[in-house]
Amino acid sequence: MKNIVLIGFMGSGKSSMGRFLSRELDYDFFDTDKEMENVTGLKVHQIMKKYGKIRFASEERLIVKKLAAMDRTIIATGGSFIDNEENIKALKDNSVFVFLDVDDDIIIDRLKRRRVRPFNEKGSLTELVPKIYGRRRPVYERYADITVNTTEKTMEETAEEIVQRLDSVYVQ
Ligand code: S3P
Repeated sequence: MKNIVLIGFMGSGKSSMGRFLSRELDYDFFDTDKEMENVTGLKVHQIMKKYGKIRFASEERLIVKKLAAMDRTIIATGGSFIDNEENIKALKDNSVFVFLDVDDDIIIDRLKRRRVRPFNEKGSLTELVPKIYGRRRPVYERYADITVNTTEKTMEETAEEIVQRLDSVYVQ
């Protein structure tokens, strides 16, 4: 049984959806950011601040390598996971990629409620989210086997859509 890799922007609900889906489908669940925090003993924003994006990306690659050997696992990724093609290559053969798309306004609202915003660029969320997400959206779309816009959907509805569409992309 293949893995399901959830990709998407910060605040798109990858971790919550991953946990929910793993219970629904009886799959294991891994969150690459959480794994990194467990391995390093630091929060993701601390790794970024203290060691920078290159170190973050190299820690992420190590975790992804480990996850590539898994089966029946839901993997929630960090927002910048798709910046590194090695990550995609490592998981693509054994996974279905699901892009959780959400309208910018919802992302902005959700991120406003978070204490930590790991954007390096300067500007308000209202400026940065459309700019950065606008850049990344086509990349998420390119790697996705399934894209679900979750804006108007409950968690249950999103899960149902993913499960229904899984049948069309994969031979078990
Ligand atoms: C990032 C998003 C974060 C985290 C890192 C980089 C990004 O993950 O991986 O701070 O550049 O979009 P979430 O998408 O889980 O918040």
